[in-house]
Amino acid sequence: MSEFKNLESMADLVSLCKRRGFLFQSSEIYGGLGSCWDYGPLGIELKNNVKNRWWKSMTFREDVEGVDASILMHPEVWKASGHVDNFTDPLVDCKACKSRFREDQIDTKAPCPNCKAEGQFTDAREFNLMFSTQMGPVEDSSSKVYLRPETAQGIFVNFLNVQTTMRKKLPFGIAQIGKAFRNEITPGNFIFRTREFEQMEMQYFVKPGSQKEFMEQWKETRYQWHIDNGLRAEKLRFHPHGPKELAHYADAALDIEYEFPIGWGEMEGIHSRTDFDLKQHEEFSKKNLHYVDQANNNEKYIPYVIETSVGCDRSLLAVLCDAYRLENPGDKENERVVMKFHKKLAPIKIAVLPLMKKGGLEELGRKIYNDLSKEYKCEFDVAGSIGKRYRRQDEIGTPYCITADFDSLEDNAVTVRDRDSMEQSRVSLDKLTDFCKENLS
Ligand code: GAP
Repeated sequence: MSEFKNLESMADLVSLCKRRGFLFQSSEIYGGLGSCWDYGPLGIELKNNVKNRWWKSMTFREDVEGVDASILMHPEVWKASGHVDNFTDPLVDCKACKSRFREDQIDTKAPCPNCKAEGQFTDAREFNLMFSTQMGPVEDSSSKVYLRPETAQGIFVNFLNVQTTMRKKLPFGIAQIGKAFRNEITPGNFIFRTREFEQMEMQYFVKPGSQKEFMEQWKETRYQWHIDNGLRAEKLRFHPHGPKELAHYADAALDIEYEFPIGWGEMEGIHSRTDFDLKQHEEFSKKNLHYVDQANNNEKYIPYVIETSVGCDRSLLAVLCDAYRLENPGDKENERVVMKFHKKLAPIKIAVLPLMKKGGLEELGRKIYNDLSKEYKCEFDVAGSIGKRYRRQDEIGTPYCITADFDSLEDNAVTVRDRDSMEQSRVSLDKLTDFCKENLS
């Protein structure tokens, strides 16, 4: 096996993502908008693949249903959930340069990390992280609504709708993928912490008393999902929350962390949320949210909840970091950057690269491309040297490149190059679909 280096700095990944069309800074031609990112053609393919894998693993099972709730919700939701009062970070300003920091992330006795002025911080004040906006044409306090800071509340308020319409018995879960917004004081590190992001959340409703057992089950299930995304086990770890870290609604919690180039960071939170949310919504909405347990003499109770909550962008960042390899570093001829995505996640599955335009090769290539595109996301590229085209496909993580050359016109076969081993094999045209099925499905 060739020598390789893992991703050592986030800057290398940011540069690759821009160069190859994964991610661009939002509103770039206007100078960009802080910590907002746009997914480019390859980024959105990768993101859709991550979301589809999550959706399939979470909802293609008997006990979990999906929903897609609206981003704007009744403002009382956020009072009930505690976000209006408690979803705050302590904020301090540097009096000299006006930079803002989270008090818990800096030493306020030390000089300002930005301008180095000493002893210049304001007293801390609580800053609510929710974005608010106005609904309807009249701008007054009664029309104030929030952009949801988590997707979970859209699930809680639909608990009874889903339970009754789908005739669910406990335990069962409700899953959702959607945008969330937080006016983070210190966003950054590429797409690790942004103000607009996507969450993939699931609330699993259980009988009170059984939460520990289900917490254990979901811990294992969710860990395995990250492994099945191709992440290396040595880059993953659990971080159980100590009593001081526990959110006010939780009786147990842990994070699944990944070792990013910036250090270990939370990728997914698994919380035992007790009956806090449903109880609060019952109180604020005055609607009965008790579950009638027909299996237990019609006993009525508010279910407990195990929540799994993973940031789509953050798990995608882990996938990008993990896939990155610099092979044969320093060896000019053989050095290459290759994104070793799990084949299921690779944005492009097959690149069809006719050796040249002439002699019927482009036409043959297009025919192959059109056939395979019915099943797989493919790219067609006939411009430039074949070596450079291979390098580009390595950098975007395409598992297979198919090259039609002049021999193809004689022997009805093409060369298939494997991204990881770079080995090339000859596959006859009538076996190409089977080859792809075997290796990609
Ligand atoms: N419903 C529970 C909840 O929202 P959280 O720990 O605040 O819990 C869950 O968020 C996940 O959402 C995190 O593990 C992270 O992956 C992602 N996330 C949270 N804030 C984020 C941000 N500002 N940018 C990107 N992802 C974020």
